[in-house]
Amino acid sequence: DWTMENFIDMEVEKIREQVGDQKVLCALSGGVDSSVVAALIHKAIGDQLTCIFVDHGLLRKGEADSVMRTFRDGFHMNVIKVDAKDRFMNKLAGVSDPEQKRKIIGNEFIYVFDDEAAKLKDTHFLAQGTLYTDIIESGTDTAQTIKSHHNVGGLPEDLQFELIEPLNTLFKDEVRVLGSELGVSDEIVWRQPFPGPGLAIRVLGEITDEKLKIVRESDAILREEISNAGLDRDIWQYFTVLPNFRSVGVMGDTRTYDHTIGIRAVTSIDGMTSDWARIPWDVLEKISTRCVNEVEHINRVVYDITSKPPATIEWE
Ligand code: XMP
Repeated sequence: DWTMENFIDMEVEKIREQVGDQKVLCALSGGVDSSVVAALIHKAIGDQLTCIFVDHGLLRKGEADSVMRTFRDGFHMNVIKVDAKDRFMNKLAGVSDPEQKRKIIGNEFIYVFDDEAAKLKDTHFLAQGTLYTDIIESGTDTAQTIKSHHNVGGLPEDLQFELIEPLNTLFKDEVRVLGSELGVSDEIVWRQPFPGPGLAIRVLGEITDEKLKIVRESDAILREEISNAGLDRDIWQYFTVLPNFRSVGVMGDTRTYDHTIGIRAVTSIDGMTSDWARIPWDVLEKISTRCVNEVEHINRVVYDITSKPPATIEWE
């Protein structure tokens, strides 16, 4: 009968048989699916697996370090980390249209991945964390027409690999169980969904280092307080956005003219519809006070209380 242990044994056997003594490449994003697929394949073939982790400079605070700590230091995997922040920032300079940002980031990701993959000779397979739901939903996602969801980890078209997709019979909750069974940390297994374009679509309009810093630091405070309040598994997604306008405030005796931060926190089953999370007021108060006190250039904090529809989860 079907148990997770049996599933692991069978998949490990299948992967070994399919791969033989060849090499496998995997695009690691730090998300649940790519992390679990990497852990499973590593269990099967160890050093025959190489992961490429592209840091586009648009991740949340501490995220890149956490990925490296988990997989390179913890699992002793071959992980190539590509620091591509400058490449992405150069391409994004002066761009304020959200769909344009997504397109640029999606394309640039493929170029960077492609460049790295080309350096790895005689790699025959590409592992992907495709889930059962990805297969049944592909092509029918009407949200696609509202926002193009370029998932980081897309397959470079001109690279010829044979695909390995060992998660393609599983649902998300099963992938989490599998990940835990394989020793992937709770931090990753229970990670909230995070868009491929990352913080780029949480800074509205043109992206600058300063704006990224404001959204990254305030987001870190929000996550810390949500976790302190024990709410992190009850809320589907929670993050801050920078609407990119300034308003008047007062600090001490001085008039300020600075940025507003928006808090977005939603409950949802699948991201297609959502409701705003009823975060207790004292938790919101702590987040607001800390953001204004600890993050330079924030003088106002607002809470987004719209459901989806009519709003979307992200602000771009
Ligand atoms: P929206 O904002 O459309 O988001 O209500 C629904 C879900 O999709 C995520 N999202 C993205 N994920 N690339 C991604 O990989 C994207 O460009 C993108 N845009 C939105 C969003 O975080 C939410 O979980």
